[in-house]
Amino acid sequence: MAIDGRELRNAMGLFATGVTIITTKDATEKPFGLTANAFSSLSLNPPMLLICVDKGVDCYNCFEESKVFAVNFLSQAQEELSTRFATKGIEKFAGLSYSLGELGVALLDGALAHFECTVAHAYEGGDHTIYVGEIQRLVTAPGDPLLFYQGKYRSLAPQ
Ligand SMILES: Cc1cc2nc3c(=O)[nH]c(=O)nc-3n(C[C@H](O)[C@H](O)[C@H](O)COP(=O)(O)O)c2cc1C
Repeated sequence: MAIDGRELRNAMGLFATGVTIITTKDATEKPFGLTANAFSSLSLNPPMLLICVDKGVDCYNCFEESKVFAVNFLSQAQEELSTRFATKGIEKFAGLSYSLGELGVALLDGALAHFECTVAHAYEGGDHTIYVGEIQRLVTAPGDPLLFYQGKYRSLAPQ
């Protein structure tokens, strides 16, 4: 049975997620990044996570070139950053507040968590590639998450 793309998108949108910005770098250390919610925790021992990256993104070659990336969990206050890193053809790092982690990738100020990873495995996933990252270092901070559901940004209801 053929699955309609719009219908598939809408159905996947019924799964509520957090929002991450994946940062990486090319062979010349230039920073790159993209907004992503196709993220999962994976393994405790060894510590691993996975991300799914569209083969058409500008930073696609970075994962092969540098073999490192970081996952930044966005806070509720970072919706503008999510939009920025999901926009093609702009200078995403201009005026951005970030530091470089031990692997040389950007760790965004104000994120709820940073996971610095080395690429352990890459798997075919249709029009995406699934990267398994071995977590080398993590840092967390207090705050509320940015959420994504049915194509819109959301926040947790007040407790
Ligand atoms: C909420 C949200 C989640 C996204 N999740 C992913 C994802 O998991 N993987 C992916 O490759 N692109 C994802 N995208 C799309 C990319 O962020 C977008 O295509 C981005 O512009 C790619 O970077 P580039 O402009 O440098 O090519 C998502 C976009 C949004 C708004």
